[in-house]
Amino acid sequence: MTITLRPATLDDVAILELWDRDPGVIACSSDDPDAEQAFGADWAEEIATFSDVWAYWIAEEDGRPVGAMQIIDPHLEPTHYWGECPPNLRAIDIWIGDAIDRNRGIGAEMMRLALEKCFANPDVIGIVIDPLNSNTAAHRFYQRLGFTVVGRRMFGDDDCLVHQLTREDWEAHDS
Ligand SMILES: CC(C)(COP(=O)(O)OP(=O)(O)OC[C@H]1O[C@@H](n2cnc3c(N)ncnc32)[C@H](O)[C@@H]1OP(=O)(O)O)[C@@H](O)C(=O)NCCC(=O)NCCS
Repeated sequence: MTITLRPATLDDVAILELWDRDPGVIACSSDDPDAEQAFGADWAEEIATFSDVWAYWIAEEDGRPVGAMQIIDPHLEPTHYWGECPPNLRAIDIWIGDAIDRNRGIGAEMMRLALEKCFANPDVIGIVIDPLNSNTAAHRFYQRLGFTVVGRRMFGDDDCLVHQLTREDWEAHDS
């Protein structure tokens, strides 16, 4: 299995829309049992606003798109989703679009590549992640990668369990 990460382009809009309606992706984005879409984003607009502080990446397995990631600078990104946040962090969101591609190690490899990318910038001191408190599979996934729990926090209506990975933890985990 060879996983690569590349920036999302407008050609990915259709698959991002498809993944947005996958029950597993919906469940990771909201505890609302009636939700019909995960992010409900205007993907063309999201991709068009790609910048140093806000970017989407597509993971491919041997050239086939299998998952997506958003990597942002939570201090600088314009929506201020994370509220007051110190500089030099990155926040990551990850989803594998189809159930058949989950539980095969693809997500772990995507995270390995993304963490390498984030920490290649020497200014970056840590990564933060906000899985829903109910998403215990994601907690196990992040904790296997070295993330530790910061605490429970509401983001709008979403009850989340914030995790972080410091550069020191990443280096210790990676070595
Ligand atoms: C969370 C997510 C990104 C993890 O990615 P993934 O590719 O499924 O993760 P992995 O395959 O590395 O690990 C998941 C499980 O599969 C197992 N696994 C990994 N490789 C395996 C293999 N080759 N054979 C069998 N099991 C395997 C892992 O041990 C892990 O088991 P666990 O659930 O008992 O802890 C993915 O499942 C997903 O997109 N879920 C829906 C959206 C979501 O929850 N996103 C996170 C938002 S915060």
